[in-house]
Amino acid sequence: MESKFLLLLLLLGFLGHTWAATDKVICYYASWAALRPEKGAFVAEDIDPNLCTHVNYAFLGLNHDGTLQILDEENDVNQGGLKRVSALKEVNPNLKVLLSIGGASADTGVFTTVAGTPELQQAMAQSAIEFFETYNFDGLDVDWEYPRGGDIGTYIDLLSALKTAFEPNGYLLTVAVNSIPGEVGGYDIPKMSDILDVINVMTYDFHAPWGNTAENSPLYGGDNESQWNRDNRNADAAIRYWLDGGADPQKLAIGIAFYGHTYKISPENHDLDSSAEGPGDPGPYTNNTFSLGYNEVCEFHPDGTVVFLDDMKVPYLYDDDFWIGYDNEESVTYKVQYAQEKNLAGVFIWSIDTDDMQGLCGESNGLLKAINKAIQ
Ligand SMILES: *[C@@H]1O[C@H](CO)[C@@H](O)[C@H](O)[C@H]1NC(C)=O
Ligand SMILES: *[C@@H]1O[C@H](CO)[C@@H](O)[C@H](O)[C@H]1NC(C)=O
Repeated sequence: MESKFLLLLLLLGFLGHTWAATDKVICYYASWAALRPEKGAFVAEDIDPNLCTHVNYAFLGLNHDGTLQILDEENDVNQGGLKRVSALKEVNPNLKVLLSIGGASADTGVFTTVAGTPELQQAMAQSAIEFFETYNFDGLDVDWEYPRGGDIGTYIDLLSALKTAFEPNGYLLTVAVNSIPGEVGGYDIPKMSDILDVINVMTYDFHAPWGNTAENSPLYGGDNESQWNRDNRNADAAIRYWLDGGADPQKLAIGIAFYGHTYKISPENHDLDSSAEGPGDPGPYTNNTFSLGYNEVCEFHPDGTVVFLDDMKVPYLYDDDFWIGYDNEESVTYKVQYAQEKNLAGVFIWSIDTDDMQGLCGESNGLLKAINKAIQ
């Protein structure tokens, strides 16, 4: 009797271990989306808290004294951006909300200074905890793009100091990392995997948005690509780099882009890897050179021709002189399935505010719903 019970316990333990779930849907929210015009505006209450397990509020900054910095007082505080996002936990009590600090346009020098100075590491940890308490957040996402050279050791020191300070209250610590193995190496993967709750591998922006037409976020290398590209410029190569480097798969999240890279082409020359005149025009909502949100693709190119690439598992769309390599419901589903095959923690999204939230091409929040459907 007793041995049967033990066997059952062992079996349950075994199942629990091997069946570690791919269940995280980490939703980055670009808080400035609240300020976009017309149908492009996306406020805290537009987030469906049942379609995300985590919401990462982007971005906060870092001061030279180590304290966290509010970047848009009006939007983040006066209009209640931060508190309205954490209030989503009243709808879904299992939801975790994190402050994301840094981002692609942040000053990296201040990270170098703070990471390299033990007192400033502590100041950053204490400031983060004060923010968690004030705004009812559950953790910090460090989006330092990127620690290089002499930062590699101090990056780990900073993460350790933050984790040690957060641990007594169970606050989460996550990071976002570069996805091109050959461009920014030097992460101490085993240590990061030990310290962190999640490592968000930014598996997009794989090609510079100039030159020939190219995909933003191919899942696999293309049959006709160079070996270097096949080894570096796709999500599978990036994830394998982290796994081969010693990351616990259950600490990794694969990135899914709700935007694409745009090009201006000659209408008759619309294949992948065709010469382009330059980037497409900025979208009316996101106003970025080189990219368009999925919502803008839907609304402004409803009659574009979509070509799905079987090797890379992503689509492109062309419409007269407009070309975009992007993600749709089919390609995001492939990425979720990939995460499941590799037993990853889950997926993250940059960023949920450019989904088809109005349902202009299908169901509202069609990409996020496709992800959730595939996760279950
Ligand atoms: C690779 O290039 C050849 C020759 O240009 C072309 O016929 C073929 O369709 C390409 N394959 C893919 C998967 O793009
Ligand atoms: C769009 O961005 C450019 C700078 O890239 C800026 O000059 C312009 O004012 C922006 N337009 C809108 C409508 O925000």
